[in-house]
Amino acid sequence: MHGTDATGSARSGTAPWWRDAVIYQIYIRSFADGNGDGMGDIAGIRSRLPYLRDLGVDALWITPWYPSPQADAGYDVADFRDIDPRFGTLAEAEALIAEAHEHGLRVIPDIVPNHVSDQHVWFRAALAAGPGSPERERFVFRPGRGPDGAEPPNNWRSAFGGSAWTRAADPDGSPGEWYLHLFAPEQPDLNWENPEVHAEFQSVLRFWFDRDVDGFRIDVAHGLVKDADLPDLLDDTSAYPAGAHPHQDRDAVHEIYRAWRRVADEYPGDRKFVAEAHTPTPDRLANYVRSDRLHTAFNFDFLRCPWDADAFREVIDTTTSYLEEVGAPATWVLSNHDVIRHPSRYGRSLQEWPYGGRFSAETPLDLELGLRRARAAALLMLALPGGAYVYQGEELGLWEVEDLPDEVLQDPIWERSGRTERGRDGCRVPLPWSGTAPPFGFSPDGSGAEPWLPQPEEWKEYTARAQDGRPESVLGLYRTALRLRREHPALGEGELEWSEADEGALSFTRAPGFGCVANLSNRPCPLPRGRVLLASGPLEEDRLPPDTAVWLAL
Ligand code: BGC
Repeated sequence: MHGTDATGSARSGTAPWWRDAVIYQIYIRSFADGNGDGMGDIAGIRSRLPYLRDLGVDALWITPWYPSPQADAGYDVADFRDIDPRFGTLAEAEALIAEAHEHGLRVIPDIVPNHVSDQHVWFRAALAAGPGSPERERFVFRPGRGPDGAEPPNNWRSAFGGSAWTRAADPDGSPGEWYLHLFAPEQPDLNWENPEVHAEFQSVLRFWFDRDVDGFRIDVAHGLVKDADLPDLLDDTSAYPAGAHPHQDRDAVHEIYRAWRRVADEYPGDRKFVAEAHTPTPDRLANYVRSDRLHTAFNFDFLRCPWDADAFREVIDTTTSYLEEVGAPATWVLSNHDVIRHPSRYGRSLQEWPYGGRFSAETPLDLELGLRRARAAALLMLALPGGAYVYQGEELGLWEVEDLPDEVLQDPIWERSGRTERGRDGCRVPLPWSGTAPPFGFSPDGSGAEPWLPQPEEWKEYTARAQDGRPESVLGLYRTALRLRREHPALGEGELEWSEADEGALSFTRAPGFGCVANLSNRPCPLPRGRVLLASGPLEEDRLPPDTAVWLAL
């Protein structure tokens, strides 16, 4: 992390920028509203580029901005070569990319290759063309089982609840074949057995590389290839040997990424991919980032890790050792738009929680504790070797909004689960920028727009403006940490060496002359000798209080 120039030319090392970049996730609908309709957009992002530059991140991942009916908040893409009018225009996207580069920030859009919107021209054509047509071959259509084909072709479930199959009508309107959707019915899965699908996505990659994007975040990267026989899933999916699950992490998926890598490598500069890949084991994740495939993959084991020193140490060691074997850097992440914000995760006594799962209302929350731990986690994450992601609002200390009224919920999980799971809206509430009442500067002054999800009043203390210039605020902590990370030669890529630490604490050094201690226990631990560079909370004389982390110059 030594340099700020988006072209990479000012970096002192020769390693590509992405090996230790800090990338800020912009969840576009909730970042900043420029046109006054209560929903974030490209104009909003452009107006906040100075904020992002001053925060000290290297790049922006922008969640899907393509035309979309928004059945899954943009992850149902109707056209990969344009911008949804809610978010702006293609010309504005091009301007954003150019301006971000001027600010030293790279830009990584999201690409969603597992499925498209049911309003995509391909899917409309498939419905119109009927069974047996080449148009249907781009998707996974099958006759149903049982009398009249009224039962779905197999027992696969949608990630959002219910069957993964929906029955389509034949062109004459009568009930016909079923189509596969591992997510919502409005998100039909593509058929990656079909060369046309490969060609289309390579062309989409080129479309955006030609517009100078610096890479892509790949949605559901592990899910594209299915067992062509579409067998029923075993009840116990953990029983599948590696690569044998019928629709997850199948080996053939790597052929797709080898081809994508060749496309990226045709372009000058260091373009990069980051995979959202869920794999049963870390060695399977490492397969995605072998040198002929993708560059990086989110480390969700780190995100999922309970607040426990041994558990963190094990995740860190396992991750780095598997990645070392394939020569890839680690990619640390604490939060994103699919999971409970980490102050709320860490603020509960509950140690385990399922990915994408929600806490039950009965699990009491100690938000003060959660925020203290979140600050410590930030210093831990940013001191580790490799790259890291910051989810918008994490730098403000935002927590999960758990009391959104039923009628505002928009995540398809809410309806698909029969209103038993509230879904992911609580981590997607629009950011508070300034002022003392909603919309907290999210929309332009005087627009009268209400944010698409209501913001809690308590966020008045957590706006970017309220924290600006206060080094002890969460924003102050992130700004200082990111500045030190850029300046300190030990941070970013490299190695770490564990040091002796009390039970419940993590302590490591990085050469030259850097130390990090994180106390995850509930009693103070000794503070090693050294000059304090940054602490996540107040320190006692020579002791590190519980749930606190510190960076030291050794
Ligand atoms: C995205 C989710 C989305 C799903 C389907 C996920 O991995 O991050 O937000 O609902 O893919 O596209």
